[in-house]
Amino acid sequence: MKPTVRRRKPTASARNGRGASSAGSAARAQAGKPGKAAKPASAAKPVRVAQGAKRPAKPARKMAGPVKAGKPAKSSSAKSSPARAKSAPVPLKPTASALPADALLVPADRPLRGVEWRGGLEDGVLVLLDQTRLPNVVIDRQVRDLETLRAHIIDLVVRGAPAIGIAGAYGVVLHLAPLAKSGSGADSLEEPLRHALDRLVTSRPTAVNLKWALDRLRDCYERHVGHLTAQEMVARLLMEAKRIHREDAQLCARIADNGAALLPADGGVLTHCNTGALATGGVGTALGCIVYAARAGKRIQVYADETRPLLQGSRLTALELQRAGVPVTLICDSMAAHLMQRGRIQAVIVGADRITANGDAANKIGTYGVAVLAKHHGIPFYVAAPYSTFDLTLDSGMDIHIEERKGDEVRRPQGTLFAPADVPVANPAFDVTPAELITAIITERGIIQRPNRDSVARLMAGDAWQPAG
Ligand code: MRU
Repeated sequence: MKPTVRRRKPTASARNGRGASSAGSAARAQAGKPGKAAKPASAAKPVRVAQGAKRPAKPARKMAGPVKAGKPAKSSSAKSSPARAKSAPVPLKPTASALPADALLVPADRPLRGVEWRGGLEDGVLVLLDQTRLPNVVIDRQVRDLETLRAHIIDLVVRGAPAIGIAGAYGVVLHLAPLAKSGSGADSLEEPLRHALDRLVTSRPTAVNLKWALDRLRDCYERHVGHLTAQEMVARLLMEAKRIHREDAQLCARIADNGAALLPADGGVLTHCNTGALATGGVGTALGCIVYAARAGKRIQVYADETRPLLQGSRLTALELQRAGVPVTLICDSMAAHLMQRGRIQAVIVGADRITANGDAANKIGTYGVAVLAKHHGIPFYVAAPYSTFDLTLDSGMDIHIEERKGDEVRRPQGTLFAPADVPVANPAFDVTPAELITAIITERGIIQRPNRDSVARLMAGDAWQPAG
């Protein structure tokens, strides 16, 4: 049978402008401009937290905490949470003294965005919404140097394959900007560039988007090294990093449009980990498909796996979906089988960190198990990812380097010991879902039904979708 690579027409959501408006708000969010749902409150200026300074309790409480934007969700948990969040934001007091010196409290009604570049070349700062603290504490971290960024990537302050790539690209600029002496040629940056690329690419090994973004900066350097000064080169690299960021927002919107059409008109959709605005430069991949489907009028009840051990599902996906007004019910990872058996899940959709030449997909640990369950119950299993997640240099998923993380993430969830302190732990951060368990891979270029080596090769060799601008 011939593998199919289907290119989708724009869905109703795009045609009637709803998709477009959300893409617009993603772009607005990325540009640092408030979107529709982001009317700042009167005191909506971020509060700067000075080193060692005592934080005034009251203003801080106003600024932080999750606040719903849009319609309240219909699930019982969603019914009460947004209202409670608005009238009584989660108190900062117990943690306030532990807030880092570089933290900025985020206005409660600002759209969630994982990565942002603020300022120009000289005064530029990379701002990361600290995903280790969400949903209770909403702070941005200001990053001004390579090693701080590397530590934040390792610690998951910034996480999600596309978001790590975007942050890494800006990290190269942060490292090179102070080293670009006036009057020097661009080649004076060769050694520091190599150093920055090495430090960043080794920070998280599984998501290929990081390497892909760093390769783009290296290619940009190589294209222009002969005819630019060092300062011009850094300006050029910042442009390239911003382009990667902007493109990702557009890729997300395309994927969301393509994937929304595949989701059921009415039914339960299970997702694992977090693949939304926090994990990308736009509306998200798998989560973007869900949000667009809901906006197009589909009656979707999302089941979000909590995603052990680091709880990206409960802490991040549940928060994003509540804010988007999409009904979400949180489940422990071990509950998925039961819900499938009882007919409450009609589709599964997840993201990916690396897709190999044969269509195998690495994603957050636990994804493979969900795919096996979906197969057993005859439920479609979709993977949503941009072209930057494909790695055709690897033959199969068995070649993917799976990141192994510290045992304490399992022994001490959120810092509380739940196991004998010295018990050995295995903590692989990702697993590989074989292509034969994947119903379709949704990309910005189209949808690959029943992915295999041929269909992946055809998709990637075909015309790339060209981002606007
Ligand atoms: O360890 P994380 O939180 O970075 O893992 C993230 C995932 O596994 C996501 O599903 C993947 O990166 C896709 S994000 C669009």
